[in-house]
Amino acid sequence: VGSTRPQRNADRVLPWLVERAGARDEFDLEVLDLRDWPLPMFAELSSLNGERPEPGYSSPVVERWNRTIADGDGYLFLTPEYNHSFPGVLKNAIESVFESWAFRNKPAAFVAYSRGLAAGIRAVEQLSLVAIDAELVPLRNTVLIARVESAFAPNGEPGDPGTERSLQLLLDDLAWWSAALRDARDRGEVPPAHLRT
Ligand SMILES: Cc1cc2nc3c(=O)[nH]c(=O)nc-3n(C[C@H](O)[C@H](O)[C@H](O)COP(=O)(O)O)c2cc1C
Repeated sequence: VGSTRPQRNADRVLPWLVERAGARDEFDLEVLDLRDWPLPMFAELSSLNGERPEPGYSSPVVERWNRTIADGDGYLFLTPEYNHSFPGVLKNAIESVFESWAFRNKPAAFVAYSRGLAAGIRAVEQLSLVAIDAELVPLRNTVLIARVESAFAPNGEPGDPGTERSLQLLLDDLAWWSAALRDARDRGEVPPAHLRT
């Protein structure tokens, strides 16, 4: 969950997302809400030359964050659009995984929203580019929710049936890619490029 401010609109989308993803047999879901992860602004000792055999972390919460990300086989990002991109708190959380490369060779799916018509589409475009550098595999299909403040009925159901359909497509893709890449990783991985020079 990539926004943390009080009264965030993320909480209009999150219960629906958790319910739908949790209902699928393919997933053992863990919600990582950045409100619960007080990560410091990035302060890791990057070891791009690979000299250190083990990553060292700036603080215990960063270490715990890296271990938690390492446990995942796939990631579903929930993000609003901030200044034609995604929130800085989410970028910091992605960068905080830099030392362990725990996102590597795993799929990333995106659910985005905004208060206006943009529906978070520019957040997803930018997040996809950032995901590539973390060696995540960004998925093509997305869920985009415009006018988030009126997009869900009081019972939590989306007003637009297309929103529901796009989430099911996204979850189908995420399940397939999570299993496919887990199998591929089990067969062995090439080291990150900076360790192969
Ligand atoms: C700092 C900031 C920048 C924003 N920039 C955009 C933007 O570029 N495009 C857009 O459609 N909405 C923008 N919005 C509106 C957000 O989409 C809307 O406030 C949304 O509810 C934010 O998600 P949150 O409530 O979960 O924090 C911005 C909001 C904030 C707080």
